Amino acid sequence: MNSANNESRIIVDLVKVSKTYHPDIHAVSDVSLSVNRGEILFLTGRSGAGKTTILHLLNRIESPDKGVVEVAGQDLGKLSQGKMQKLRRSIGVAYQDFKLLPDRSVAQNIAIAMEVTYTRPSTIRTRTKDILQRLGLADKYHTPTAELSRGEQQRVAIARAVAGRPQLILTDEPTGNLDHETTTLVMDLLSHCNKKGATIIIATHDESIYRQTDHRVIELRAGRIVNGNPVPDDSRRHNPATTEETDNADT
Ligand SMILES: Nc1ncnc2c1ncn2[C@@H]1O[C@H](COP(=O)(O)OP(=O)(O)OP(=O)(O)O)[C@@H](O)[C@H]1O
Ligand SMILES: [Mg+2]
Repeated sequence: MNSANNESRIIVDLVKVSKTYHPDIHAVSDVSLSVNRGEILFLTGRSGAGKTTILHLLNRIESPDKGVVEVAGQDLGKLSQGKMQKLRRSIGVAYQDFKLLPDRSVAQNIAIAMEVTYTRPSTIRTRTKDILQRLGLADKYHTPTAELSRGEQQRVAIARAVAGRPQLILTDEPTGNLDHETTTLVMDLLSHCNKKGATIIIATHDESIYRQTDHRVIELRAGRIVNGNPVPDDSRRHNPATTEETDNADT
C-alpha cells in the first residue's frame, strides 16, 4: 500500500478503518492516519471520540470491521497469533485503566516488559531504577501496586510501557491523574524515549500537554478525524536514532 520508500519510514498506517461496537456504536469511522517513525502524535477529542479504540486497533486488542491496520509494515489482519505476539513485544502500551498486577511490586510489574525480551536481570534492575527515578517513584521500587495512589499507578503503567525500549509506545491518558509537576516528569520521560528513537502516540484530552507542542495533533469527533493532518509532513520524517537493545543503563 505504501511505496517501497515509505515502508520503512511509516510505522503506523490506518487505511479507511472503521470499528462498530454492537449494536450500532460507530467508535471509529473511515479513519485514515499515518505516523512516521520517530514522531510524537497526539490523539485528542472529547470523551467517547474513539481515541482508546484506535490504540486498541494498533495492538489488535480490537479488530476493525473495515479497512487495514498496519504496524511496522505488517498488516495486523493477516498476522498469525504468534507473529502478533512477537510484534507486541516491540509495542509498549500504557492503558487508560493501567492493567497492573496488584499483588506484585512496582519493580516486578515493570520487569515484565523486559523479561519477554530476555533482558539481563542486572540490566532490568538498573533500567527500572533509572525510570522510577525519572518519574519520582524511586522509593516505591518494592511496593505492591495495590498500595499506590492512582497517580502513582499511572506512572508505573508508563514505566512498564517504556522499559522494554519498544519501537512504538501507545499511552492512553498518561497524565489523567497527575498534577502539573508530575505531568512534566511523564512528558519529559516520553520525550527522552522519543529522542532515543521511539515513536509515541498519546491519546489525551489534557490540552495542557499539547497546547504549545510542535508535534502533530489529531482531533477525533464521533470516531472521525475532524482536525489535524492525517499524513505526516516531511519535516517529521524518520528519526535516525534506533531503539535497538543495548546494555546501557540509561532508559
Ligand atoms: N468494548 C466496548 N463495547 C461497546 N462500546 C464500546 C466499547 N469500547 C468503546 N465503546 C464505545 O465506543 C466509543 C468510543 O470509545 P473510546 O473508548 O474509544 O473513546 P475515548 O475517546 O477513548 O473516550 P475517553 O476520553 O472517555 O477515554 C464510545 O461511544 C464508547 O462507548
Ligand atoms: Mg479512552
